[in-house]
Amino acid sequence: MKIELQHELAAKVSLAALAVYSFEEDPVSSGTAALLPSETRKLLGELKDSGEMTGKAYECTLIHQPAGMAARKLLVVGAGKGEKFKPFQYGRLAGAAVRFLRARGVRQMAWLVDKEGGPTAIQRAAEGAVMADYDADRYRTEREAERRMDLVAFVCENAPAPEAWTLALQQGLKIAEAANFTRSLVNEPSNRMTPTLLAQQAREMAARVGLEYEELGAEEIRRLKMGALWAVAQGSDEPPRVLVLRYNSPDAPESPVIGLVGKGITFDSGGISIKPSQDMHEMKTDMAGGATMLGVMQAIAQIKPRARVIAVIPAAENMPSGKAYRPGDVITSMSGKTIEVLNTDAEGRLALADALAYAKQLGCTVLIDAATLTGAVMVALGNITTGVFGRHQEWIDRIVASGSETGERMWQLPVDDDYRELYKSSIADLANTGGRYGGAITAAMFVGEFAGNTPWVHLDIAGTRWSNEEKPYLAKGPTGVPVRTLVHLLMHLAD
Ligand code: BES
Ligand code: MN
Ligand code: ZN
Repeated sequence: MKIELQHELAAKVSLAALAVYSFEEDPVSSGTAALLPSETRKLLGELKDSGEMTGKAYECTLIHQPAGMAARKLLVVGAGKGEKFKPFQYGRLAGAAVRFLRARGVRQMAWLVDKEGGPTAIQRAAEGAVMADYDADRYRTEREAERRMDLVAFVCENAPAPEAWTLALQQGLKIAEAANFTRSLVNEPSNRMTPTLLAQQAREMAARVGLEYEELGAEEIRRLKMGALWAVAQGSDEPPRVLVLRYNSPDAPESPVIGLVGKGITFDSGGISIKPSQDMHEMKTDMAGGATMLGVMQAIAQIKPRARVIAVIPAAENMPSGKAYRPGDVITSMSGKTIEVLNTDAEGRLALADALAYAKQLGCTVLIDAATLTGAVMVALGNITTGVFGRHQEWIDRIVASGSETGERMWQLPVDDDYRELYKSSIADLANTGGRYGGAITAAMFVGEFAGNTPWVHLDIAGTRWSNEEKPYLAKGPTGVPVRTLVHLLMHLAD
């Protein structure tokens, strides 16, 4: 999909369709519907009076051959209540327009922009439009892809700062392409996304956008004494990898060096503590944290914020076999801490333990991890909100605030020393599970034990990585959460 900025009057846009939005309070002349010629708005008035157009969120009203306009179709997207409106919704509105129109064979859309929203509005709209054009049906022989948008033109009669607007548009495009890259990795089935193939994807991406790339193979993982990651990997015929990507902007201060650690379990069968077969296929998405960090790295390599970032992704497959690790095994992690394995299905925290230790060794001074870590976080927050954990309130606040800018919902859950009792072991330093109650918290705290005194924030994305329903603005399937939030954070480090 191509995007561009056009300086044009709404009435003169000659693309197949022009799309605007308006609020419930005044569906005829609020939002960008207000910018339509009065002749056209008279038509909208009739639709409002007959009750066909209400301005309710994501309601789509399509008008053919609209009076007073060059475009052959006019689409009005409802934006809901004006008082509740937040800037991230520009993206959802543009996205809803894209999905509505392409389902009807329209391949070119003009999205009317108001000057009030400024660069943020146009960046969010671009993100939403590009993310809306993604579908997860890669392996269907008759694909929705045949219905993609070719062009979205962002139209403003006289953009007040064309350079800033064009930059915002391009940044929105890069962020959304990166989120779509993450989604495509998460969507791949595990026979096509082994640790080796994930590494290949990372290597190719790094070469494409100019990032430093390094990779640890099985030998090096053993030599570095990453006993926790190794234990997870040992049941599989697929050898593990640790992927390391570096981004350094020359004008960034020496610190912080941000470590982005992403869980990269390419399939989680549960191992010897095997999962029920019911939803096991969903565990192809257990590398969503790693895929997130790859998307973030792709975006920042192109947007070039002032930052120093190192991504560390432990990649392995969790399988049962004669070589697999067992419940009761005691393993020694890279940090030297010993761990009693009470459940081989609590593998993510083991992989993260060694990855965090390694990120610290590489010089990271702040650690952020993203992981599909627990079913418990889905019980607590559903598919809508990412669980945020940590002991460093300033970094937690920054991430939660970034989430409300991008529309990726985040909610902090507690960590407290009182919970440490729950994952004590009678034989080793730690046990890898803390029981059923408070499972998202004890999992997070286990991971945090390996961050030590380094500021650390953990994002449990088990619920938010995937959407089981199609949204007006997003396909069913991988969501790309939390790529946009982390990119936003890194773009605004200096603020
Ligand atoms: N990858 C799973 C968590 C998960 C569940 C992600 C559902 C996405 C959807 C993780 O490795 C896991 O199995 N966690 C266990 C931990 C338990 C054994 C302590 C869980 O949540 O049940
Ligand atoms: Mn598991
Ligand atoms: Zn897992």
